[in-house]
Amino acid sequence: MAASPGSRPISPTSSSAPSTDPTAEPPRRQRVLYGRRSGPGLRPGQRERLDRLLPRLAIDLPAAGALDPASLFTPPRQRVWLEIGFGGGEHLAAQAAANPTVGLIGVEPFVDGVARLLAQVEERQLHNVRLLVDDARLLLDRLPEASIERLFVLFADPWPKKRHWKRRIVNAETVARFADLLVDDGELRVATDDPGYRRWMLACLLGEQRLDWCVRGPEDWRDRPPDWPPTRYEKKALAAGRRPVFLRFRRKSRTAELATSAE
Ligand SMILES: C[S@@+](CC[C@H](N)C(=O)[O-])C[C@H]1O[C@@H](n2cnc3c(N)ncnc32)[C@H](O)[C@@H]1O
Repeated sequence: MAASPGSRPISPTSSSAPSTDPTAEPPRRQRVLYGRRSGPGLRPGQRERLDRLLPRLAIDLPAAGALDPASLFTPPRQRVWLEIGFGGGEHLAAQAAANPTVGLIGVEPFVDGVARLLAQVEERQLHNVRLLVDDARLLLDRLPEASIERLFVLFADPWPKKRHWKRRIVNAETVARFADLLVDDGELRVATDDPGYRRWMLACLLGEQRLDWCVRGPEDWRDRPPDWPPTRYEKKALAAGRRPVFLRFRRKSRTAELATSAE
């Protein structure tokens, strides 16, 4: 899989000067997006659907404080799943359809992908999807501890050149944040078809003490589980002869963590 074309970051929009007030919240993270935010142009039907549906489904990030993800849905959903970089939205739409009692949050800055997902939302009449069309890290900063039951990062851009590694969305910092956000026994699912990114991800994920790799043998990373719908990038990888890996990590119990730290 190639990295997204266009490598200049979208200009930051939400910076703030350092505060001298010790009780002030830390400054908001700057938005830094690499890659494309739109393609050759939306068809009129896609544009119309975006204008009509997105305002209803889009998440308004609070300027400060936490965002309760359960309250984004009507009725509120106690179980919330998050997909980062959903691309064309095939996986997210299939999960939302198969799990109507779960609230699905999708984050994707590429507008054409959002338009494709909205077509599926309409066609399948999905009422449990909410979207952020932006950098996922802005949302990760606003979600409360233990608020996400499942988190998906599927075929994220691998940024194979060493000078671009800092752009990788799965890194030690985000993996630590994933562990904060997952509920006890919650699940993180990641996939890649890039060997370099696979090694990098495994190093980050195995280095996070609060996550356990759900693995007994090679079939656990070679075979996609039946409740894990395929994505466009998986199909592209297979068509090009690349073999993806499917990694599942389980969030350890916080009670067990406390007991261990008290010993
Ligand atoms: C290689 S594509 C994979 C898409 C999809 N998950 C699939 O498997 O077909 C990676 C996606 O991540 C999105 N992305 C890149 N940086 C992101 C960020 N900071 N936050 C959220 N999504 C991001 C890109 O726009 C792109 O759609």
